[in-house]
Amino acid sequence: MTTPPNVPIEPRKGDVHTYDIPSTILDSAGDVHVGLQRDAVRPPSEDEILRVENLSVEFPTEDGVVHAVRGVSYSLREREVLGIVGESGSGKSVSSMAVMGLLPKSARIKGQILFRGDDMLKMSPRKQRSLRGRKIAMVFQDPMTALNPVHTIGDQLAEAVLAHELMPRKNALARAKEMLDLVGIPQAEARLRSYPHEFSGGMRQRAMIAMAVINNPDVIIADEPTTALDVTVQAQILEKLLEVKDAVNAAIVLITHDLGVIAGMAHRVLVMYAGRPVEIGDTDPVFEEPRMPYTAGLLGSIPSLETSGGRLRPIKGTPPSLINLPTGCPFSPRCPLADEVCRTAEPELAETDSGGHFAACHHWDRLAAVEDPTVFFRTESETKA
Ligand SMILES: Nc1ncnc2c1ncn2[C@@H]1O[C@H](COP(=O)(O)OP(=O)(O)OP(=O)(O)O)[C@@H](O)[C@H]1O
Ligand code: SF4
Ligand SMILES: [Mg+2]
Repeated sequence: MTTPPNVPIEPRKGDVHTYDIPSTILDSAGDVHVGLQRDAVRPPSEDEILRVENLSVEFPTEDGVVHAVRGVSYSLREREVLGIVGESGSGKSVSSMAVMGLLPKSARIKGQILFRGDDMLKMSPRKQRSLRGRKIAMVFQDPMTALNPVHTIGDQLAEAVLAHELMPRKNALARAKEMLDLVGIPQAEARLRSYPHEFSGGMRQRAMIAMAVINNPDVIIADEPTTALDVTVQAQILEKLLEVKDAVNAAIVLITHDLGVIAGMAHRVLVMYAGRPVEIGDTDPVFEEPRMPYTAGLLGSIPSLETSGGRLRPIKGTPPSLINLPTGCPFSPRCPLADEVCRTAEPELAETDSGGHFAACHHWDRLAAVEDPTVFFRTESETKA
């Protein structure tokens, strides 16, 4: 197998990018946009692999149109890890499925998905297929949705190679064995003949990772890759994912509910709420100085001895219906800072006080004014104490 040289990713800590965000951006037709939403995507760079611009996805249903994704924009550079976080139903998977071309035909997709500058939404189906699964691969939450129970692991891995490359089957099987070795499955040669049900959950997820990287992808999209596994196995799988990503020089879009995982793995983080990006920036500034109350609420919901005496502070309320979105900021019914302005106008994603750090909030400066922005989500008993 032609594995490229192992160029290790720079350590996450301290690897903070700086960019000059222009106040105006020219689109391909030469029009000038002053839209802040667009400014939140970094300017294109030579090492940019994936650029998602103003992606929106709607599903017409009997109950009305579901506005699942509303203007998601991000850019991903070589070997970078972008974490996408947000509550259930916030549009994390749908936005990634759009990149993978896995949405049902009924989905109405708008925006741009640029792979090395080429818009995937405008490519011929043949060209799209040649990218998806080869240059952009996916690791699903439940490996059983991607692994076929009636074929051996070896056959499935070999098929994944042969779908994109002409070679003798025995060479594809040799690469499959190499991949099982890479993801840490012992006795890889013999395991090629196993069926998925003969693997433990952790081994199946390793096989899934092997399948994702077998064609040396540039981008791996991992959607909740470990939530189906027990806690002790989760950390091992994530570590393996990072190791394998470095071995094939890929970048990762990592979708997770787990802020701890993002903190440990992601260079950048995109926080989603009600189908929209509500905060984006380098991981450390976003975690240390959140500028959107929802992010502060998420951070406050991690039990912390320092801020909540070890208690969990869940954000009260539930996300809005994506069919009937409230007027104004969709977080306003749950936000302790909400006022009339919030209930009237939905805030743009705008640059905050730290460069390259964007938030969609009319009152981000109020978070900037306090030392601990999670304080707004204190429970009644904490406030009394
Ligand atoms: N095929 C579909 N038809 C109609 N609505 C859909 C369809 N697929 C997804 N949705 C809706 O789109 C919204 C976003 O879903 P998505 O799966 O992206 O959420 P998520 O952020 O990944 O949540 P979770 O953390 O639970 O995986 C949800 O309200 C979901 O019900
Ligand atoms: S815009 Fe208003 S309601 Fe929305 S998050 Fe900011 S303060 Fe809260
Ligand atoms: Mg999901």
